[in-house]
Amino acid sequence: VFVGAGALSLLPRLLADMDLADAATVVSCPPVWQRHARRLRGVPGARSPVLIPDGERAKTLATVAGIYDALLARRTDRSAALLAFGGGVVGDVAGFAAASYLRGLPLVQIPTTVLAQVDSAIGGKVGVNLPQGKNLVGAFHPPALVICDPAVLATLSTREFRSGLYEVVKYGVIASRPLFDQVARNLAALFARDLAVLTPVIAACCAIKADVVGRDEREAGPRRALNFGHTIGHALEAITRYRRFRHGEAIGWGMLAAARVSAMRGLLRIEDEARLQALIAAMGRLPPVSDLRVGDALGAIRHDKKVSRGRLHFVLANGIGRTTIDEVSGRELTAAMRSIGMRLT
Ligand SMILES: NC(=O)c1ccc[n+]([C@@H]2O[C@H](COP(=O)([O-])OP(=O)(O)OC[C@H]3O[C@@H](n4cnc5c(N)ncnc54)[C@H](O)[C@@H]3O)[C@@H](O)[C@H]2O)c1
Ligand SMILES: [Zn+2]
Repeated sequence: VFVGAGALSLLPRLLADMDLADAATVVSCPPVWQRHARRLRGVPGARSPVLIPDGERAKTLATVAGIYDALLARRTDRSAALLAFGGGVVGDVAGFAAASYLRGLPLVQIPTTVLAQVDSAIGGKVGVNLPQGKNLVGAFHPPALVICDPAVLATLSTREFRSGLYEVVKYGVIASRPLFDQVARNLAALFARDLAVLTPVIAACCAIKADVVGRDEREAGPRRALNFGHTIGHALEAITRYRRFRHGEAIGWGMLAAARVSAMRGLLRIEDEARLQALIAAMGRLPPVSDLRVGDALGAIRHDKKVSRGRLHFVLANGIGRTTIDEVSGRELTAAMRSIGMRLT
């Protein structure tokens, strides 16, 4: 994983060094390609990219089939790399095409959103949605190479940028108090996309994710800590049918609720809970939850639990920078969701 402002200019050489330059295919989406195509100058395959439609709605088997068609039309064989240049959607879809076409092509992830740089491009999970639900089909297909160039984040909307930043805060809470403090101290510079501040923050997150995944590729243990804020966050996304929140925004609320449970258990000091609350408040306004019912969210959490064969591994903050995993009761979840302002009935 390479992280650096301007790192994309190294890509032609890195691909050549890794023997990945021959007949590479670039997959991207129009908004990214319009803004950043020039950054892939000199990269094999960049003259004729495969562009997939933008957004979560394109994360389908039909889009994957379109990529297979393009690969077949180009007579791509197993030695050719697939380069995914875009946000998490492009990474997941192109990654799944790479995992499955001819039983696997080498994959290069070139993430262009905060979320993709710190999370989805690293770790090897790729896949698509089915009409029945999100990420129901997929594979573990670790990338041969990941290049994160924070310079591309300059063109992200404030909302997309902020949304990814909640995951950055998550890394601070689960693994690094210094990272948490660094984000809190430099919020304005981060939002201004000041590369001197942004680059080390992105790099710190990539290091945490790569370390966790390196110890636990298939999510048996340490990888679960990455789900801090996600039990309630996923429930909020589900009960609003994925329309109200960007993923990170739901995680922002989910972290506040998880911090409450952690504080009630005496694991997280009240001052540290207040620090997290202050940081999330300083980042900007989250879409509302005051009209959402605790009972509906509990239903969604139970449904998730069934899908994962009956165990709810709830991630608790054990101070800022460490986690503990435990079962939690419905009463604790209820109190936590009440504390973020959700309705009881
Ligand atoms: N594989 C994993 O481990 C993993 C982890 C977390 C999330 N995900 C998946 O990631 C997806 C979400 O990713 P996302 O948040 O990056 O969304 P996204 O890929 O939809 O990108 C968000 C928007 O930003 C635009 N965009 C991307 N880069 C840009 C840039 N540099 N400048 C301007 N606009 C740009 C995109 O075109 C899109 O409209 C979800 O499908 C989620 O399931 C996967
Ligand atoms: Zn997440």
